[in-house]
Amino acid sequence: MNKLNINLDEKKEKINKNIYGHFAEHLGRCIYEGFWVGEDSDIPNQNGIRTDVVEALKNIDIPVLRWPGGCFADEYHWKDGVGPREERATIVNTHWGNVTENNHFGTHEFMKLCDLLGAEPYISGNVGSGTIREMQEWVDYITHDGESPMSDWRKENGREEPWHLKYFGVGNENWGCGGNMRPEYYADQYRNYQTYVRDHGDNEIFKIACGANIDDYNWTEVLMENAASQMDGLSLHYYTIPGDFWEGKGSATDFKEDEWFITLKKALKMDELISKHGAIMDRYDPEKRIAMIVDEWGAWYDVKPGTNPGFLYQQNTLRDALIAGVTLNIFNQHADRVRMANIAQTNNVLQAMILTDKEDMILTPSYHVFEMYKVHQNAELLHFDLESEAYKFDDQEIPALNASASVNKEGEVNITVCNLDPNKEIELKTNLLAENLNLSEVKARVLTASQLNAHNSFDNPDNLKPVEFNKIEFAEAQLKAKLPAASVTLITLS
Ligand code: AHR
Repeated sequence: MNKLNINLDEKKEKINKNIYGHFAEHLGRCIYEGFWVGEDSDIPNQNGIRTDVVEALKNIDIPVLRWPGGCFADEYHWKDGVGPREERATIVNTHWGNVTENNHFGTHEFMKLCDLLGAEPYISGNVGSGTIREMQEWVDYITHDGESPMSDWRKENGREEPWHLKYFGVGNENWGCGGNMRPEYYADQYRNYQTYVRDHGDNEIFKIACGANIDDYNWTEVLMENAASQMDGLSLHYYTIPGDFWEGKGSATDFKEDEWFITLKKALKMDELISKHGAIMDRYDPEKRIAMIVDEWGAWYDVKPGTNPGFLYQQNTLRDALIAGVTLNIFNQHADRVRMANIAQTNNVLQAMILTDKEDMILTPSYHVFEMYKVHQNAELLHFDLESEAYKFDDQEIPALNASASVNKEGEVNITVCNLDPNKEIELKTNLLAENLNLSEVKARVLTASQLNAHNSFDNPDNLKPVEFNKIEFAEAQLKAKLPAASVTLITLS
């Protein structure tokens, strides 16, 4: 019944490593405390950026980091965040808790962070409340290699050489917090603003237009019809919310199987959204020149009781590991169109990789999935057919298994497979089809727990992490694995 046939001779496109990207907004404790502690902090840091967080993120090969928002981006005025820190103007973060920030983490600090991480910067510009000139000058400040008012100012502020900046977003959620625009109006705004986002020297900007919210297919249609030739990427935002956004999203830790089921069913919707938005993009761009950039995704629950409602702090459980696992598998499967994705958000916000409590730091189950899945970055996607039994709950059902497979430069085959059924170990038989099969070794790791809400805490930071998996046999092109209930497994064949 549960069968996976992988054709090793049918390689598809490369899985862009940027699918494994991240998003860090000025929101709650994502930037301040999560990354930025300041040079005088007792928390070990390099140039004010905490070392433990950087090291942890390097371990998952973070390829790209989106900043400064989110909704914050369309209220952010970058000039307030450069120059001597003690002289910087403050800013009130009206979207997120109305807190006043000192702007100590600005452009120089972000570019330094990307440097330390070895990640590409992806900056979201301000369309909602910023001017065209302000956006143009930001790009000049960062990338202009000659003499200009902005590059001179950058030099005065301590940075002689321009930075390399590839990814630039022209606004964020301009259908909502970024200006409540109609798609027709935003399409025109986009055309106008992007004109002034210029390439300087050999720095070429990859321009990303604000795309749709969830299933707003009309937004995609209008953007593609009116601005396709001016964009390199079009974004898509989709959050997995078990309940209702306004009425109550559901608890991150206190849930039963009904919410487990509905959450994973909603996570699987990503596949439908990519297919349908992709089909519209295909009509205007059959060559798939324009990338779909899912630059906000992840689980969104009610905040942890007792925490600031504007800070979006939530715990992260085995359920989130499954959301990450299935979503990354879906992105891999759509690697021909999806060429970047950025989970929301890196530290202490929504489906975070890392939670901090002042000087302490823990890694979440979602972090561990990104660590397991990093083998897919820049590998070639393999074609497969998966037959899965159903995971049934009440009168609804979803496929119990969800997978993706790739082959890397060394010829290693990596299969990531999620068992969504929390009640049943599933035996999966995998047939490897190839003219010449030269794989003989197998190793595997699994992330699972007996409790659906298992998570890591500051008292028990290693409660949930991947362990070696040995319920697996490999002989004569056939692999048999007994996948535990509610698990994410990585199988490597070499
Ligand atoms: O990630 C939190 C918020 O979700 C972002 O600021 C916004 O773009 C989206 O609505």
